[in-house]
Amino acid sequence: MLLLDRVEPYGKALDAHRAQGALIGLVPTMGALHEGHLSLIEQAARECDVVVVSVYVNPLQFGPAEDLASYPRDVEGDRAKAAAAGADYVLAPSETEMFGVAPATTVHVAGLTKYFEGAVRPGHFDGVATIVTKLLALTGPCRAYFGEKDYQQLAVIRRLVKDLSFPVEVRGCPTVRDIDGLALSSRNAYLSAEERRVAPALFGALRAGKIAVEDQHVDDAGVVESIMAESIPPIAGIGLDYAAVADPDDLVPLRRIEGPVRLLIAARLGRTRLIDNLAARPQ
Ligand code: PAF
Repeated sequence: MLLLDRVEPYGKALDAHRAQGALIGLVPTMGALHEGHLSLIEQAARECDVVVVSVYVNPLQFGPAEDLASYPRDVEGDRAKAAAAGADYVLAPSETEMFGVAPATTVHVAGLTKYFEGAVRPGHFDGVATIVTKLLALTGPCRAYFGEKDYQQLAVIRRLVKDLSFPVEVRGCPTVRDIDGLALSSRNAYLSAEERRVAPALFGALRAGKIAVEDQHVDDAGVVESIMAESIPPIAGIGLDYAAVADPDDLVPLRRIEGPVRLLIAARLGRTRLIDNLAARPQ
């Protein structure tokens, strides 16, 4: 397993593999790898000849009041975990190596970025779209693996790849959860013991919404949203940002449920913001 911090040898190494007919699998991450990331790497290792994991805490996708400075960083630990999961290369460039100076170019995906995370975190998806475009350009033709945990991000990336005709197959992979249902996230590390105890309430709310859609045949999205919101315990320190029913492809918030939907939730627990989502389909 090779750890590279320069983009030029990275591109050359991948070109050499491609010249031999290899299929490249890219797993973009911001490091602090957990079982969710490792499941993406393992899937890439099953489906591709060469697996690359990028580790880059992307400043472009953090707002001024967000946790860029405190975001967990452990490149050596990430290297070891990525290697054990089947990665052949880890690309961990510095900010200067990635962009030289701050980029003058921004990639903006219109439409589905105006809802939910896009509304709460202005500019976030521009930062994601810009860095993912850069990573795809540096890596070249490949399969790229993203978790469904960041469902809106996955939808934005699918749209970006389609619109710009990137020679990339986007693979969305299931969310990995702790035994109590909490979706794995690098930001779970910020939770206090008490916050960690109540955090699975987000998944509980999604399950309540799914039961309403699938078993109780509720077709009014507003009612499903209330069911989700009301299932969050009224504990000091929990602040719900949204509990929503959206179209699974373009993320448009729905009023009536007539086919498959995506249930989305975001809440603040103390200083940590958690998001989660679940598919639901009326029976
Ligand atoms: O999901 C993440 O970790 C990041 O948003 C990504 C896709 C690596 C872009 O920085």
